[in-house]
Amino acid sequence: MGERLGILGAGKLGTAVARLAVEAGREVLIADARTGPMIELIVSTVAAGARLVGVDEMLASSDIVLLAIPYSRVGELDPDKLAHAIVIDATNPWLESDGANPAGSPLRGRPGIRLVRSLNHVAYEELMSYAQPAGSPFRTAIAVASDDAAARAEVAVLVEALGFDPVELDDRNAWLLDANGPFFGRRLSKAEMSALASASRRADRLTW
Ligand SMILES: NC(=O)c1ccc[n+]([C@@H]2O[C@H](COP(=O)([O-])OP(=O)(O)OC[C@H]3O[C@@H](n4cnc5c(N)ncnc54)[C@H](OP(=O)(O)O)[C@@H]3O)[C@@H](O)[C@H]2O)c1
Repeated sequence: MGERLGILGAGKLGTAVARLAVEAGREVLIADARTGPMIELIVSTVAAGARLVGVDEMLASSDIVLLAIPYSRVGELDPDKLAHAIVIDATNPWLESDGANPAGSPLRGRPGIRLVRSLNHVAYEELMSYAQPAGSPFRTAIAVASDDAAARAEVAVLVEALGFDPVELDDRNAWLLDANGPFFGRRLSKAEMSALASASRRADRLTW
């Protein structure tokens, strides 16, 4: 099991996930393009317990890497540095392209990349306020989409640990997490999300 979580981007999403993962007992490495006292202060206050390290160290030492950087920067990453890890691409193209679409993750189809799409449809404030212990009747669902079943299962375990019910989908249905998709910004239970996924499935969609 991939126990060490690496997070690229110590902004709103990255620090929120780091905080929940630390609370769940995970070892968390976080790295950002910014360095210096301000980012150190942000991580030590908002995501206390996560270790702020350099980008290369984080990428080399993490079993799962969460991309929490602008979508427009993902294509600049060196795929070779990601090839040993499961990569969660949580980035949303719409923020940078004003709704114009998305050709999908720039990492899609890169050899050796174990790509999973998850967290894209949940705002960071909602992550912080909706997280609930396992078994809570009010748990919120988070989708986990990939054709790599083993990677998807590991990310589902992570989502569970963060305080959410994972809903696993194949890659063809990753579009459901899009900014204009049916899950975005909605608080859904696992049953509600699964039903919505079944009702929304379209065999020809593969947009992200
Ligand atoms: N915010 C949310 O609620 C939310 C929810 C779901 C998904 N997302 C997605 O998650 C991504 C991050 O969103 P955010 O709101 O957390 O953004 P944010 O607060 O602006 O944080 C992004 C951080 O990543 C840093 N960064 C940029 N390029 C980098 C690189 N190549 N390597 C390392 N660090 C880099 C940024 O540094 P600089 O400021 O110096 O560039 C910034 O500190 C976006 O793609 C967004 O669509 C966000």
